[in-house]
Amino acid sequence: MITLISELTGTYGPSGREENIREVIERKVAGKVDEIYTDTLGNLVAVKKGKGRRIMLAAHMDEIGLIATFIDEKGFIRYSNIGGASPFYSLGQKVRFKNGVTGCVFYEQKLEEFKELKHERMYIDIGTRSREETEKLVTPGDIAVFAGDAVEQNGRFISRALDDRIGCAILIKLLEDLEDTENEIICVFTVQEEVGSRGAGTAAYGLMPDIAVAIDVTNTGDTPECKPLSVDLGKGPAVMVKDAYTISHPLVKNALIECAEKMSIPYQLEVISRGGNDAGAIHKTAGGIPSGGVSIPCRYMHSPCEMVDKSDVENTVKLLKAFVSFKF
Ligand code: CO
Ligand code: ZN
Repeated sequence: MITLISELTGTYGPSGREENIREVIERKVAGKVDEIYTDTLGNLVAVKKGKGRRIMLAAHMDEIGLIATFIDEKGFIRYSNIGGASPFYSLGQKVRFKNGVTGCVFYEQKLEEFKELKHERMYIDIGTRSREETEKLVTPGDIAVFAGDAVEQNGRFISRALDDRIGCAILIKLLEDLEDTENEIICVFTVQEEVGSRGAGTAAYGLMPDIAVAIDVTNTGDTPECKPLSVDLGKGPAVMVKDAYTISHPLVKNALIECAEKMSIPYQLEVISRGGNDAGAIHKTAGGIPSGGVSIPCRYMHSPCEMVDKSDVENTVKLLKAFVSFKF
């Protein structure tokens, strides 16, 4: 699993610029499905044909990033965020542009209060000396992402972009393990989730599945002095009940719980008031699509050191395997 995770998290792919990561995923799943294509917005759709219900499983390929907005005369790059990139998590980080150019993210030294730290008061330094020199390497509109390698340690995976490359890895693993099923399985590796699930909604409209499940990460409530949350790392996949954009359809939520119980897979319930995933866009598509989510508990979301538990990842694959052959 770590080899697959390393490859997926090691690939560039901020929202709207998913071509590299899509190519990597397409190579991995092409031989395992009956049909594979990229739709208009760039979602990668991989279909395993079946005569039963048409089940859409969505994991987003894109990641958060920092987009260059202006280059000053000394060559420093001003930027703004793509998705939920926090100034605090970005400070002091090494970032990488698509062409491999590395930058240091820092802040205006005259800032006195930590809470004044905002992307507008920060910049990316790529070591150049002038605007002309920078513009040969980076121009406004180019997007940088966190740099860094994936690590497996103490039964956990630690990496940048586990949101949501871990969901992509789970769907790839599922397609590898899957025997023929009655239901049709449509795995969609979506674009632009981090800027508001823009890809998932249009993909769902194009596909009109009978049922949909978003596979994404969720925050945990098990670190020192953190906000209370019912989800812990290592206690199993979280069946989504509610987030800020979706109240899971009972049909989907109950089927997931039934599958977990029947297969003795540990699971938790996700009930959160902030944040969301692709299900938020999918369930409101067209005439409405019964949707839910399976979330992988993740510490330090949207930081360069996101952490997930290996057993949660394996149990998510098991749970989805049972779910896709469920008789609805
Ligand atoms: Co995210
Ligand atoms: Zn995500």
